[in-house]
Amino acid sequence: MKGYHWIILLLSIALIAVSVRLGAQSSSSPEKEGNSGSDAALDCIMTRASVRSYTDRQVADTTINKILRAGMAAPTAANQQAWQFVVVTDQNLKDSITAAFEYTKMVDKCSFAVVVCGDMNNLFKGDMPDGGFWVEDCSAASENMLLAAHALGLGGVWCGIYPLKERVERLRGILNLPSNLTPLNVMAFGYPAQSVAPKDKWTPSKIHYNSF
Ligand SMILES: Cc1cc2nc3c(=O)[nH]c(=O)nc-3n(C[C@H](O)[C@H](O)[C@H](O)COP(=O)(O)O)c2cc1C
Repeated sequence: MKGYHWIILLLSIALIAVSVRLGAQSSSSPEKEGNSGSDAALDCIMTRASVRSYTDRQVADTTINKILRAGMAAPTAANQQAWQFVVVTDQNLKDSITAAFEYTKMVDKCSFAVVVCGDMNNLFKGDMPDGGFWVEDCSAASENMLLAAHALGLGGVWCGIYPLKERVERLRGILNLPSNLTPLNVMAFGYPAQSVAPKDKWTPSKIHYNSF
């Protein structure tokens, strides 16, 4: 073997050794811990914003299903899943919801809405006051759906219904909900008509370690 062949061989061995070492270091660094090793989930959380205007483009059923699946992947008390989801695609119903409430004016233009309902026939009992944790279960599902929609290029907004009795009963009437279902919200979804900048809510003064 000629002299320069030896040099190339030695350089190659050194390069491989450095690569192996760097690879081992990066896989054990704290920044790379977690499921995917990517920041995509964090980016999705930090860039989500409520979207209240939508294009005419309809959302495909497969996409709606992905959003619903994300909702049902949420954590719930004792895994009770005290929820039912009413998907509203019918234009007359969307119009009725828009007409019924002051703060749901975007619903008639959305592609679909999801009404997340607590199911009083399926409550976590435990050592709990009436109602168990249904509000928390449904809220976790709602946020999951907003994030999933954002990840899929859609926009959405949560419109509050519960605990305002009058809103609950009015929506119950529009959607013909049985008495065991209490609607927490109306979530409107569609492709955004314009991009909405996320609000910066980071307030370090609201963080308290160990005691207030
Ligand atoms: C419980 C709850 C009720 C809300 N109700 C309404 C509503 O009735 N109409 C509406 O346009 N937005 C509603 N929102 C959306 C908030 O206005 C919005 O999340 C808030 O202004 C922060 O903005 P962001 O979502 O862009 O971060 C509601 C949000 C929550 C969590």
